[in-house]
Amino acid sequence: MDKAKGKSNDSRRVAVSGDVEVSTYLEIAKEISGEQPVAPKEAISGAEREAIIVIDFGSQYSMLIARRVRGCQVYCELLPYDTPWEKIAPLNPRGFILSGGPASVYKRGVPLAQAYIYESHLPVLGICYGMQVLTKQLGGQVAPGTKREYGHAVLHLSDVHSPLFTGLSASSPVWMSHADRIEEMPSGFTALAYTENSPIAVMGNGEGIFGLQFHPEVAHTPEGKIILENFVYRVCGCKGNWTMANFINDSLARIKKQVGKGKVICALSGGVDSAVVATLIHRAIGNQLTCIFVNNGLLRREEVERTFNVFRLNLGMNIVYVDASERFLHHLKGVTDPEVKRKVIGEEFIRVFEEEANKAGKVDFLAQGTLYPDVIESTSSITSASAKIKTHHNVGGLPAKMTLNLLEPLRYLFKDEVRQVGLELGMPEEMVWRQPFPGPGLAIRIIGEVTEEKLEILRGADFVVMNEIKKAKLYRQLWQSFAVLTDVKSVGVMGDYRTYGYLVAIRAVTSEDAMTADWARLPYDVLAQISNRIVNEVPGVNRVVYDITSKPPSTIEWE
Ligand code: XMP
Repeated sequence: MDKAKGKSNDSRRVAVSGDVEVSTYLEIAKEISGEQPVAPKEAISGAEREAIIVIDFGSQYSMLIARRVRGCQVYCELLPYDTPWEKIAPLNPRGFILSGGPASVYKRGVPLAQAYIYESHLPVLGICYGMQVLTKQLGGQVAPGTKREYGHAVLHLSDVHSPLFTGLSASSPVWMSHADRIEEMPSGFTALAYTENSPIAVMGNGEGIFGLQFHPEVAHTPEGKIILENFVYRVCGCKGNWTMANFINDSLARIKKQVGKGKVICALSGGVDSAVVATLIHRAIGNQLTCIFVNNGLLRREEVERTFNVFRLNLGMNIVYVDASERFLHHLKGVTDPEVKRKVIGEEFIRVFEEEANKAGKVDFLAQGTLYPDVIESTSSITSASAKIKTHHNVGGLPAKMTLNLLEPLRYLFKDEVRQVGLELGMPEEMVWRQPFPGPGLAIRIIGEVTEEKLEILRGADFVVMNEIKKAKLYRQLWQSFAVLTDVKSVGVMGDYRTYGYLVAIRAVTSEDAMTADWARLPYDVLAQISNRIVNEVPGVNRVVYDITSKPPSTIEWE
């Protein structure tokens, strides 16, 4: 196949959740087959179900609000502001939170809340822009502020008896980010708290409708969690039944019902999401599940053995192992452009996966580790078009039609919830807390052409990094930590000899969601140990440097 040695287009993937690797490739198959995701109607079963709905007006923090509410053990969904009531009613909402957003309510054509929010008589908490929406729609006045208030402020309570404030300090730091202000509250509302610049920092009408001028969901509002907890428990009367144990019970029942006697295949990568999906489905339907584990030759040292041990030996799963290393390396020959590498690897993955799936006989379902952030991103009516560029758009080459139903049991979970499910299912901590590893693997950590020789060098260096980071007990604190093999060679001296060897770069970052990241301030001793060991233990490397750039302007991976 003489593909992809030319120039790729400029598109750089925007990766969403950490463990996107396998779904990256498989989503293409879904699109080709015209399949729509088969979303379960209920995320938590019958009588127990209760939900808080976050109405999304486009704030960068909207998803964080939903995560915080889930953190209170209350199920929560983030839905676009124009979602019809028919979609919300089956979730059994107990209250609404109106998110912040970039618009100004007094301008024309801006997003507002649907009538059902007020007609349902359910509690409502408006945050920032959400508060201004409430004010405008209930008859108050919002005006441009004389100055933008951005950053820390101190909240002083004027009505300590409000149910929203139970357990809150009389004065506490809050995070403000607004330009508009409430000029006149709607009738029936009173100011419940103030800051130096906002006389109406919190308002309420005594009937379950509240507005907050600041953001309780961000870390800069340390007591914000108490306010959200008070809202969901004291104002909305939620019971707090969103636990991962409940989730697992419901999922097992739902998977059994959906699959019946059918057969399911799942691509296993060793990453957290696909591992949890496979374990959950295996728990539900046992040997009706077959996992396919493709070794693309771009994996790290011991990766195949480790993945295999966990899944086949410990969990007793049906695993088809395919060593396709040679095929991948053959197609990568001469390829240096990072996006072309991705394309080649993506195409080949789909091809190998399809071949193996066909061998498995009649299969009815394809299991995937889609997570809630991916779902939100693909359904949001406000998020910018750029944020919607999906990773898989960079994977070219279309596979033959695959007519499989999708099984996506983690579709409503955030990453931290997926990890909790993994632990609850008894998966080894080492697997559950794995750092994300990209689908194209080591190929995008080797600058220039990928060869077996360079892969061996990088495996050696990467193994040292992982080993030292784990020894220093830093592994979980870091979003990712790894080695990159550059195409730079430099002069060195070892013993009495001059050397001319490769330059290895170490990358270690902290991050919450991979959209932004900071380089980790690793202790000098750890860096020294990593550097010494790499130069001594990995032939061909004579210099090690540490990458001290954040994202942006850099990306986490070097390619
Ligand atoms: P960047 O380099 O864009 O990476 O800052 C953000 C996150 O995405 C991972 N990543 C990928 N994952 N296929 C994947 O499955 C890819 O092509 C890919 N590129 C980057 C990266 O490891 C980080 O977690």
